[in-house]
Amino acid sequence: MALRLGDTAPDFQASTTEGPISFHSWIGDHWAVLFSHPRDYTPVCTTELGTVARLKPEFDRRGVKVIGLSVDPVKDHEGWSRDIEETQGVRLNFPLIADPDRTVSRLYDMIHPQADDTFTVRSVFVIDPAKKVRLTLTYPASTGRNFSELLRVLDSLQLTAHHQVATPADWQRGQDVIIVPAVTAEQARGKYPQGWREVKPYLRYVPDPGA
Ligand code: BEZ
Repeated sequence: MALRLGDTAPDFQASTTEGPISFHSWIGDHWAVLFSHPRDYTPVCTTELGTVARLKPEFDRRGVKVIGLSVDPVKDHEGWSRDIEETQGVRLNFPLIADPDRTVSRLYDMIHPQADDTFTVRSVFVIDPAKKVRLTLTYPASTGRNFSELLRVLDSLQLTAHHQVATPADWQRGQDVIIVPAVTAEQARGKYPQGWREVKPYLRYVPDPGA
């Protein structure tokens, strides 16, 4: 059964490149990103892991823990890590789950048999501190993901968790946001005494309250 937004992210125990983890305890009070790779020693995955390692300070700044998964064993992950450091110029600085028996891959529906019946697709799950799934993405093996977009979505998720706003297309932190339709004009006047920019009664912009 596919995981849906708002579902509790399944807990699991697993071996990783940083030792055994219990997933919910590992997340703790943070946000988390769990992302899968088809397998070790593959070119697109190598570039993806290098990119995430390079962006790690950006995830840290947002209080987000990142963890990768590939179905190969830890020993392979360790050998592959050396290649990643050599070719991408950055050391793996987050754990990589080893899932040789596909326990986690099945739990998170990361194997899509019509695409590949053995290896995982490129799944992404954003999980909040309450362990709820807040974003899912599924990419095919042939397409590397855009991790800057993931940071952008995290900014939106973290902002909208604390304010009754939504973020428009291509929004970046610091740009105007939208007052959600559920907020009446009377409520909006209380929240935004300085007013808002009204394009339509249902399209009302205010400055980013998190900026
Ligand atoms: C890759 O990571 O390059 C890859 C993995 C599986 C299939 C195709 C590409």
